[in-house]
Amino acid sequence: MNLGQSVTAARGEFRSRLGFILAAAGSAVGLGNIWGFPTQAASNGGAAFLLTYLVLAFVLAYPALMAELLIGRHTHRNMVLALESLPAMTSLKVAGRLTGVAGLITASLILSFYAIVAGWMLGFSASYPLGAAGLTSASEWLTSFAPSRNLLLMLGFMGLTMAVVLGGVENGIERWSRRLMPLLIATLVALSAYVLTLDGALVGLQTYLLPDFRKVVSGDLLLDALGSAFFSLSLGVGTMLIYGSYLSDQENVPRVGAQVALVDVGIAVLAGFLILPAMYVAEARGVAIFNEAGGLLSEDTLIFTVLPALFETMSTSGVWLATAFFLLMSIAALTSSISMLEVPVAYLIEKFGLSRRRATVVAGLCIAMFSAVIVFNFGSLFGLVITISTRYSQPILGIAVCIFAGWIWRRDALLQELRKNDTDAADSLFWRIWPFYVKWFCPAIIGAIVIQSAL
Ligand code: PHE
Repeated sequence: MNLGQSVTAARGEFRSRLGFILAAAGSAVGLGNIWGFPTQAASNGGAAFLLTYLVLAFVLAYPALMAELLIGRHTHRNMVLALESLPAMTSLKVAGRLTGVAGLITASLILSFYAIVAGWMLGFSASYPLGAAGLTSASEWLTSFAPSRNLLLMLGFMGLTMAVVLGGVENGIERWSRRLMPLLIATLVALSAYVLTLDGALVGLQTYLLPDFRKVVSGDLLLDALGSAFFSLSLGVGTMLIYGSYLSDQENVPRVGAQVALVDVGIAVLAGFLILPAMYVAEARGVAIFNEAGGLLSEDTLIFTVLPALFETMSTSGVWLATAFFLLMSIAALTSSISMLEVPVAYLIEKFGLSRRRATVVAGLCIAMFSAVIVFNFGSLFGLVITISTRYSQPILGIAVCIFAGWIWRRDALLQELRKNDTDAADSLFWRIWPFYVKWFCPAIIGAIVIQSAL
């Protein structure tokens, strides 16, 4: 049965390969790359963490990414309906549906905290020009972390996300990813090139590039690096699956998947060239970044403490730099948040026949409401939601997707999928390694890391 032909007509489809790569890379590249990865690298042995991350990204996360993209492209459906349609047995269909629903809930949970953090980025990017224009109290409010400010900025960011998703696959997601991603890369390159010229930057570069291996061996750290790699590639929650489902049957999925992974990892590495040197530049200018024990001060809030302190030492150029930096973060967050919202939206459209407009409003408002609950119970909920959704749920769902791809999806159907645009697929390196990989290696290693850290 060719599911593709019957449903693609009514569904969206990416117009071009570049459009898909930019959208999928846009989903992947987000706060995780530009903030999470460099700060974790800074507190976990710099280059040692970088190496661990690179290995995990290519050895575990890339195969899992392929599993999602291929299942999506094959079924041309959202995660719930896709996983439900792969097996023939009823009990497995139920398992597929439940996994899909768990993915959908996780994607929504991630968006609910992500929108709060992204709102802060919007607030900081507006606060610098406002401050420079003399509107000090507005500028201070925007950086104040008061619940009312968190709520308003979160709603503003959710509004932007909904506006893009309302446009649909081609006119919303693809169009905006095409506009925003080049801007993001150019800003990142320009900012890191500038920061690298400042005093103190070289020490940061050294920490980043010379490994301190004593710090990598702990199981917790492995889980952190794994969680980071999964989070960074947007895995386990159906975002890549749904983007894969909008991919034309003409595309060679292993190739475009590799390109997406490369852009994602490349941008995380590039962001390290900005954040680590910037920290040491700040230190050279008298900003405290380490505590007495040598640990990083306020790792979680580094971006909102150390960097603003650094920008403050720079007078006018600091205003420009700060605005550019926080805009960069906002853009990165937006191209990711649209992919998260698309998960429940696609489900509502495909399962209940809702119009895109209605589905976007329903899903967006529900998530914004939950996000508001987090804003008002910040101390107890914020960290908890992050831990549950990214540290546990994402890797565990990643295992489930690999099991569906490796064990439940029939090998001949999979080969047929790969042959759609590559008649020699059966001889390819990908075909020789990947099926074994997602069947045995990925579930076992991801499972071992998760269990070990839970003990
Ligand atoms: N990959 C995004 C980032 O690095 C986060 C994300 C997670 C996006 C899950 C979609 C789904 O910030």
